[in-house]
Amino acid sequence: MRALVSATVTALAVTILSAFPASRAQGQPDTPALVRDRCTACHNLNRVRERVGKNNEKDWADYIGRMQKRGARVDDAQKAAMAAYLAALPSGDGL
Ligand code: HEC
Repeated sequence: MRALVSATVTALAVTILSAFPASRAQGQPDTPALVRDRCTACHNLNRVRERVGKNNEKDWADYIGRMQKRGARVDDAQKAAMAAYLAALPSGDGL
């Protein structure tokens, strides 16, 4: 019985934790996946990779703002999450 309760508690904790990935885009698809999905509609990721390690968070927000004007399907919360994520990447290899 004790083992069952503890297994249930563990399963519940795992379920809850995996429902909230460590992403700043709360309640949204995970940010790396969003970049791969939304930033490849018009060009491939090489465009993005070229700026990783050069752009800071504000630069990224400006760039993504420009992409929004061109028609990228990204809202402002997603823009902020993507800018933070891209600015924190050490290189474009991980994209
Ligand atoms: C609606 C089409 C479209 C989408 C979607 C799009 N882009 Fe772009 N992107 C462009 C065009 C057109 C250019 C080339 C013109 C330019 O540089 O502004 C470009 C260029 C770029 C460049 C190179 C700019 C430079 O000056 O070196 C980067 C970086 C970039 N995009 C990042 C992104 C990111 C990040 C996303 C996802 C949020 C994204 N793009 C989504 C259209 C798009």
